[in-house]
Amino acid sequence: MISILVLHGPNLNLLGSREPSIYGAVTLSEIDARLAGLGEKQGVQVDSLQSNHEGALVDAIQSAVERHHGILINAAAYTHTSVAIRDAIAATKLPAVEVHLSNIHRREEFRHHSYLAPIVIGQICGFGANSYYLGFHALVTYLKEKQAERAVAL
Ligand code: DQA
Repeated sequence: MISILVLHGPNLNLLGSREPSIYGAVTLSEIDARLAGLGEKQGVQVDSLQSNHEGALVDAIQSAVERHHGILINAAAYTHTSVAIRDAIAATKLPAVEVHLSNIHRREEFRHHSYLAPIVIGQICGFGANSYYLGFHALVTYLKEKQAERAVAL
């Protein structure tokens, strides 16, 4: 069974009340519940974790190697600052999809750069909570295609 790790970075635990004009009214537990539901429908195991701490996110990425096939990540502010999170994803070699609720490219200039963008399969941003669901779909499609390619090669 395909298993994915969903990682949420700092301040995303405040979704729902945090700057709703930018991030919307949906809460993180609603997003996680919807992702779990999508997983159930598609036969995909979904484990979610939110942390405000860079090291905890690095630990979770390192541990993902043994348990998961891919990572869906909204690293939040760490997107723009964290070489450590980027290096952890690169080290695991797990396929990852980067998501953001807001369109980081039409916001302040410091949000335009992502340390993760060069090492993920792709980035989805600007669709509010739907960025997560689109990202889930993109990652699962990618993993299923790779699985099918491996089956043909056997
Ligand atoms: C965010 C965008 C980041 O720039 C910001 O620091 C966040 C959330 C988003 O989902 O739009 O915390 O990742």
